[in-house]
Amino acid sequence: MCGIIGSTGKKASLIDLIEGLGRLEYRGYDSAGIAVISDLSKLERLRAVDGTASLALLDELSKGINGVYSAGIGHTRWATHGRVTTENAHPHFDCTGNIAIVHNGIVENFRELKEELANAGHVFTSQTDTEVIAHLLENYLKEGANLTSAVSLAMTQLRGAMAIVAIDVNDPQTIVACKRMAPLIVGSGNEVNFVASDVPAILGKADTFYQVGDNQVVVVSPEEISLYDLSGNQLELSKIDVEWDLDAAVRGGFHDFMSKEIFEQSNSVRDTLLGRMNPDGEIILDEMRLKIDDLQEINKIFIVGCGTSYHAGMVAKYAIEHWTRLPVELDISSEFRYRDPVVDSQTLVIGVSQSGETLDTMAAMHEASLLGAKTLVVSNVMGSSMARAADAVLYTRAGPEIGVAATKTHTSQIVALLLLALYLAQVRHNLQLSEVGEIFSELQLLPPKIDQILETNDKIASVAQSMVDVKRFYFIGRQIGYPVALEGALKLKEISYLPAEGYPAGELKHGPIAMIDADAVVFGIATRTRLWEKTISNIEEVKVRGAKVVMIVNSGDDASSSLGDLAFEVPQTHPLLAGVLDVIPLQLFAYHLSIALGNDVDRPRNLAKTVTVE
Ligand code: G6P
Repeated sequence: MCGIIGSTGKKASLIDLIEGLGRLEYRGYDSAGIAVISDLSKLERLRAVDGTASLALLDELSKGINGVYSAGIGHTRWATHGRVTTENAHPHFDCTGNIAIVHNGIVENFRELKEELANAGHVFTSQTDTEVIAHLLENYLKEGANLTSAVSLAMTQLRGAMAIVAIDVNDPQTIVACKRMAPLIVGSGNEVNFVASDVPAILGKADTFYQVGDNQVVVVSPEEISLYDLSGNQLELSKIDVEWDLDAAVRGGFHDFMSKEIFEQSNSVRDTLLGRMNPDGEIILDEMRLKIDDLQEINKIFIVGCGTSYHAGMVAKYAIEHWTRLPVELDISSEFRYRDPVVDSQTLVIGVSQSGETLDTMAAMHEASLLGAKTLVVSNVMGSSMARAADAVLYTRAGPEIGVAATKTHTSQIVALLLLALYLAQVRHNLQLSEVGEIFSELQLLPPKIDQILETNDKIASVAQSMVDVKRFYFIGRQIGYPVALEGALKLKEISYLPAEGYPAGELKHGPIAMIDADAVVFGIATRTRLWEKTISNIEEVKVRGAKVVMIVNSGDDASSSLGDLAFEVPQTHPLLAGVLDVIPLQLFAYHLSIALGNDVDRPRNLAKTVTVE
């Protein structure tokens, strides 16, 4: 997830490029860069690497170059391949230095392509997947193609979801862009035309906006905008109606970041799965500084994390134990460190942290390292402190999460941990490759299932609105339903400020059931996992004590729905993957109740997105 922009025309200006990047910063801000063609002959590039200050630095640097250019492109990076360094910042050049490209997405087959290109003599200057695109374009241009056909030909070779924008010094007024399952739009303004990841980037600068479909190539010059398919057939442009003001547009038309992020979950899960299986059907991790022998020797796993990340670890524990037969202990990061844990060189300690900077988890990982354990971090932020320190890293490619209450990073964390479970089972030979492949296929079916749940948003909103006067909520579930219940309760606490507790449903009778009366609302996680029947019995126990019951059930499971006063439906999946789906109605419920109560969902009171104190 990165932000891309390009502009051409008499009034094309660096200010527009950099301002546009500023509005795309929500898509990532590890680094920022631009490349412009000045004097119709010179390709100049500026790149700045300073986290959230990258754009300010880029702005400063840009004062040193000619502000008038014919065609220019810009990029704000959210790193996926290659650390956060100047060399890896976009735009990327080919060997000749005549072509510059920016890219959003992942080139899944970049390793094969890079090897072929390097063997043919191309010199790479970065560790990114992106750079292969510039070199592929170079090859096609050398063979006589123009930039438009070169981009089309390159796109047919590239696997994965992406959007790219290219410029060529030999065609100094033209921008060529293409997309496949990644955002890209075109805009035309007064003597300037644009391409960008989204409308807000060029709102107020362009006055007419056009769509670009998947596998369509858009050619933008100062005078015209033309659209083609990959075979070079011209297509008709279709306009986008834009009625947003700038503020709403940055949130993609959503009321706030939290709802935007909840609705991004099919994409974030899809991105987390991209390129994780090689052509031989094996799972691959991002950064592995551990030998397979080391992983084969492991006899115990600890998972540490805080808040929502801890709950993701708890969901994954069931799958890791089931698929690898390794015992998994789970610990709150701030507890692990001080309890003299039994850890040695045969222990793998997995730290789960969206930010990769939470002090409690960082300290727990440090302690684990000191005790000789192997460490692996699951993080959403490339090059974060924990990612740098760990022996191995698996990234959740959820894109930046702005809302304090984690949503899309949670479901991506579960998916990443499930991939890790499969990886361990693969290298330790607990599962056959065919079994790994079957489960991976189930994981790939999650994104459309997430979309199905999101379609029930209106129903969940009206249920939430009807519950503004409820004072106490309970969430109960068994096995994977238990961490789902904990996360449902945590989301509600974080943004509604109401008492909400999650319990293992079977434990209710040993105490908490005393609190159940007609004023309580109980959410029962009753999808068809292994302990469904037992969960149902526990739900009956609260129902007969007068609680209002909301069931989370599989779509069409009338036998389960009829037990509750209300039911939210989620599609069925492999029982060990259910944690990804079952939590989504609970996120939506917490969100809508909080909005109905008039709270600021993006900035809940007393909370911080990343806690760097103990
Ligand atoms: C804070 C946030 C939580 C988050 C937790 C862990 O407490 O408010 O929403 O789950 O930190 O954050 P991490 O970045 O380590 O996943």
